[in-house]
Amino acid sequence: MKNNIYGVYGASGFGREVMPVVRAQLQSSGVSADRIYFVDDNPESSSINGHKVLCFKEFVEEEAADRFVVLAIADGGIREKLAGKCSESGVKFFSAVANNVVLMDAVDIGDGAILSPFVTITSNVKIGCGFHANIYSYVAHDCVIGDYVTFAPSVCCNGNVVIEDHAYIGTGAILRQGRPGNPLVIGRGAVIGMGAVVTKNVPAGITVVGNPARPLQRG
Ligand SMILES: CC(C)(COP(=O)(O)OP(=O)(O)OC[C@H]1O[C@@H](n2cnc3c(N)ncnc32)[C@H](O)[C@@H]1OP(=O)(O)O)[C@@H](O)C(=O)NCCC(=O)NCCS
Repeated sequence: MKNNIYGVYGASGFGREVMPVVRAQLQSSGVSADRIYFVDDNPESSSINGHKVLCFKEFVEEEAADRFVVLAIADGGIREKLAGKCSESGVKFFSAVANNVVLMDAVDIGDGAILSPFVTITSNVKIGCGFHANIYSYVAHDCVIGDYVTFAPSVCCNGNVVIEDHAYIGTGAILRQGRPGNPLVIGRGAVIGMGAVVTKNVPAGITVVGNPARPLQRG
């Protein structure tokens, strides 16, 4: 543990929001802050908010027993690609979970999640790998969420909703509850615009906006 190093992959705005969560979490298990880095493919400076910024190659070459990252990049497709690159280089994953996150009964979350401050996940929820839930989002009972799904801040995901891989849910979106055996389904790679109120299933790959949410018409 002492000789491990940890990285927040992505030093943009979201990465800088994730770092304090990671630092608090790791320091509470005895990791010193100088073992925690930003990892960035195009570093703009050598240090951010007191943490060294390394490119991926430098992170992999840094002296360590084991190397762990959390992928702080909002695009689920990029997260999946970076996860492949990390695995090929023997870099492992950890989840960043803020200390005021509420997880109720039978919550099953895959590797490499980011659960930001004030996130709540209630009971009987299953979530795949690489999930992001940004500040103040919730997931209610009996939801099933795929891999590399992204919630922006304040997403309200009500009960019995299925969200397929790579879907992106914008800030403040509200997903109507489904029913047992007849969930509301957000298709693979769908994008829900900020502020949308989703009352019906959303097909894969579609962007919806508005209240009630409708497919985005482009001029
Ligand atoms: C829906 C979304 C993905 C569309 O992005 P885009 O494809 O770049 O679309 P544009 O910005 O070109 O907008 C296209 C049209 O949709 C409208 N529009 C964009 N987002 C909208 C939204 N959420 N609700 C209602 N209308 C929206 C625009 O006003 C524009 O209308 P116009 O053609 O009449 O001018 C994006 O606006 C969005 O909501 N992203 C989520 C942002 C977010 O939550 N970020 C969190 C950061 S942590």
